Amino acid sequence: MADRVREKVAVVTGGGSGMGRAGAVLLAAEGARIVVADIDEDKGAQVCASIRAEGHEATAIPVDVRSAASVQALVRETVQRHGRIDVLYHNAVDVKFVNEQDRRLTELPEETWDRMIDLVLRGTFLCCKYIGRQMLAQKSGSIILTATVDALVGCAGLDSYTAAKGGVVAMTRSLAAGLARDGVRVNAICPGFVATEPQLAWMEKPGSRALMEQLHLLPVAAPEQIAPFVVYLASDESAVVTGGVFPIDSGYMAFKANFNVMGAMNTEPR
Ligand SMILES: NC(=O)c1ccc[n+]([C@@H]2O[C@H](COP(=O)([O-])OP(=O)(O)OC[C@H]3O[C@@H](n4cnc5c(N)ncnc54)[C@H](O)[C@@H]3O)[C@@H](O)[C@H]2O)c1
Repeated sequence: MADRVREKVAVVTGGGSGMGRAGAVLLAAEGARIVVADIDEDKGAQVCASIRAEGHEATAIPVDVRSAASVQALVRETVQRHGRIDVLYHNAVDVKFVNEQDRRLTELPEETWDRMIDLVLRGTFLCCKYIGRQMLAQKSGSIILTATVDALVGCAGLDSYTAAKGGVVAMTRSLAAGLARDGVRVNAICPGFVATEPQLAWMEKPGSRALMEQLHLLPVAAPEQIAPFVVYLASDESAVVTGGVFPIDSGYMAFKANFNVMGAMNTEPR
């Protein structure tokens, strides 16, 4: 068995699907004891069953990251079972809600704004608060937050999501600064478009994949291609890495558009 995170206890929120599931599976294969914390009990249980079928350790504990009581219960049950929490990989978001309900601010209902901030930013706050307290008591831990490239560069029509994820990016740095001397690291991953379940219906529409690929230098990522970076941040290999905001994005942030500026300006190539 590989052992890059051997014996570490890792809580993966939103671990029932997409990037959370892929992260949970790879962390388990690298030796971690996994808690899959998802609002969807069935999905969480299925992921745990598949991890256990490979001979690794996983428990499903249902959680709603919008509820302080629910997150506190998650921490309590995890610590009762495993004695500690070494890694938080926080993914939980209702992506369908984001895709279908977000708008330009000028058209955005106040209620949608409130729901988005509650789910994305307050959910992150609650997980970091209560799992962070456990890590403080241990004087060690690695918190890995999932932001998005859309928090780093504008994306029309996603104003409440980008505001909330932008808050996650800013919080990554200030929380890292606050916790570093106590042995707790905090980093954020900014994925580009990733082909997870809630994105597949859109991806399958004619032209969508081609359009999306024009925005990335490399092929659109599968969730399993984000997971190795998660293992790195969870492991002691990243012992000197904190406050980092990492685009793991198929090159999305590296260029303005797939547009040949030199050609458009009729300038001779240099
Ligand atoms: N897929 C992308 O293109 C993409 C790109 C950038 C960032 N992200 C971010 O990555 C993260 C994971 O996205 P994904 O595409 O893997 O989504 P996904 O839908 O595959 O997985 C999200 C999981 O979170 C769970 N969940 C939803 N609300 C919850 C709640 N209140 N409490 C607990 N669990 C809850 C869902 O049941 C689901 O299992 C999200 O934070 C998303 O914003 C996704």
